[in-house]
Amino acid sequence: MLKPLRRLARRLMERTGLIGPYYRWLERRQARALGDEAVDDGRPMPPAELVVLVSGPSRAWFSERGRSDAAAFRALAARHGADVDAGLDVLDFGCGAGRIARWLAADVIAAGGAFHGSDLNPRLATWCAANLPGTYRANRLQPPLANAAGSLDLVYAHSVLTHLTEATARAWLGEIARVLRPGGLALLTFHDEAYATAWAPGDIARRLPGEGYVVWNNALEGSNYISAWTTHARLAELSAPWFEVEEIVPGRNDEPAQAIAVLRART
Ligand SMILES: C[S@@+](CC[C@H](N)C(=O)[O-])C[C@H]1O[C@@H](n2cnc3c(N)ncnc32)[C@H](O)[C@@H]1O
Repeated sequence: MLKPLRRLARRLMERTGLIGPYYRWLERRQARALGDEAVDDGRPMPPAELVVLVSGPSRAWFSERGRSDAAAFRALAARHGADVDAGLDVLDFGCGAGRIARWLAADVIAAGGAFHGSDLNPRLATWCAANLPGTYRANRLQPPLANAAGSLDLVYAHSVLTHLTEATARAWLGEIARVLRPGGLALLTFHDEAYATAWAPGDIARRLPGEGYVVWNNALEGSNYISAWTTHARLAELSAPWFEVEEIVPGRNDEPAQAIAVLRART
């Protein structure tokens, strides 16, 4: 179908509510396409229908990219004084099917810390709880989390803000600050200007610098159907009530690596 026609069909489905069943059907089709490829990386592997819910194109990608994203978070946190091997209390917000938790949770716990995961999708949180070390719960689209105020040293979220509207993203920044100890660290990925130049659909790369926050396919919030695009400046502005921005690692346009905001909870 031609692009404008496809876009019109999507807008119609969004308005009539048919987009939900249609998108679930696409996800099931994607899961079937993943086939039976076996990947043994020594850790429990979620079923295909859960791998596709976190945008996983293959089990090999889920494994390898999970390992490298976990290593990147670990190194970045350490550079900012939060060593996950030093007995920290950690939350993977929007943990999905444990793509990153698979590589971090056991080490955090072995070092005397506590590992938590939380996700909007109860199927994902349930699979993690049954298969991975740590405590996993489902939360709603809007805050709160089940974690107590000031109970965590480190919260990381990979590709979660990227599926939220601006108001919801702001609410979650406040909630992440609530559960962090004063001085605690948040590592949050987002789609920034650099990432948009290579990977954004439609006219987003052009609009983003002027608009600051752009939402593409504004329906099914929290799913991979919707995507959100944020400038460094707007991310800093949204975090400002609760966080100091310590660093923003820019996204990449040579490979699909999202930007990472390193935020320090105000004391
Ligand atoms: C692209 S996936 C990434 C999953 C995981 N962080 C990873 O990197 O593999 C986005 C995840 O965010 C979750 N999510 C979206 N909105 C959320 C919210 N308001 N609260 C918690 N999780 C949310 C989705 O259910 C999904 O698992």
